[in-house]
Amino acid sequence: MTVAVRRAARKKAPPNPLDLLAWYDRHRRVLPWRAKRGETPDPYRVWLSEIMLQQTTVKTVAPYYARFLQKWPTVQDLAAAPLDDVLRQWAGLGYYARARNLHACAIEVATRHGGVFPPDEAVLRALPGIGSYTAAAIASIAFGGPFVPIDGNVERVVSRLFAIEQPLPAAKPEIRRLTHTIAPQSRFGDFAQALMDLGATICTPKTPACSLCPWTDSCAAFARGDQDTFPRKTPKREGALRRGAAFVAVRGGREVLLRTRPARGLLGGMSEVPGSAWSADFDIATARAFAPPLGAVTWRRLAGQVDHVFTHFPLALTVFAAAVPARARAPADARWVAIENLASEALPNVMRKVIAHALDGRTGKKRRGGRDGGDD
Ligand code: ADE
Repeated sequence: MTVAVRRAARKKAPPNPLDLLAWYDRHRRVLPWRAKRGETPDPYRVWLSEIMLQQTTVKTVAPYYARFLQKWPTVQDLAAAPLDDVLRQWAGLGYYARARNLHACAIEVATRHGGVFPPDEAVLRALPGIGSYTAAAIASIAFGGPFVPIDGNVERVVSRLFAIEQPLPAAKPEIRRLTHTIAPQSRFGDFAQALMDLGATICTPKTPACSLCPWTDSCAAFARGDQDTFPRKTPKREGALRRGAAFVAVRGGREVLLRTRPARGLLGGMSEVPGSAWSADFDIATARAFAPPLGAVTWRRLAGQVDHVFTHFPLALTVFAAAVPARARAPADARWVAIENLASEALPNVMRKVIAHALDGRTGKKRRGGRDGGDD
């Protein structure tokens, strides 16, 4: 009998939420948005952190969270801020629809809920940018409601605990059902955060640290010895590569031409250098037709390309650069921005890469560790 088979043959107790809570009491992570033991959580902070943490790591979020709280300590402060300021502070975090929804949600809480976050999960879910995961996270963590937020980490933990063979995403309803069978009768916020911590620190995607897990004795996948193969996944189809052209005009050696993208859609309301639309059948021979109307300037096509991965498609941009005289006027839909002020523009990572490519390292560096592929 192999070790794995012997382990599997032993009768297992179901996962006990109290074991996880006891582990959490000893090993909980100290996180900037997390109430310390005995403290009452602040729903504004919980909400702000949960929105930022959607598809983004704890490490990336931490400095953004600190800056937002310092600039806007309450939901009323955030509601009163111009959207442009919020987008600027968000630049580099990716998935920019989150920033627009964050602002819309702050306004709604300030105006329709008297500046107080509603504790009810269904009411939370009706607010901009709050889906079922975030509503469950806020309802449980900030208000102690009986909800379990289920994200990819929790799906991994539960699919291992029960060795769920059905692949994701089809397995989601079963994972949800099983998650509720292991929830406690109280301490819902701690349970939610304990699951997050377990998924982030022990039950990790590769080489999970099972010897440190409070639930090894009740983990079906561990008993079989193939825990790192869960969750099963249906292979994803990659979006087709899109291509386009981007134009970096530098005026008098010290300013770059920028415009603002339409408010709706991909990277809505963010800044960009002028360029073509991005499409799978973009023809580079037509690229120069998309140059901004700056008169008789010489556009140099730069060697190489800028690659970027969005959630739904990869992008390859050909970059053109031109030096224009110090008095050249900006086209009606664009403006000149001093290179030293680019850091405070709402430029998505892809545009920072484009500008860096053209300025050859003079500036346009990714600010504050922004993520790649997170721009939405
Ligand atoms: N991921 C999503 N929400 C989180 C939280 N509150 N703490 C840590 N990681 C998270």
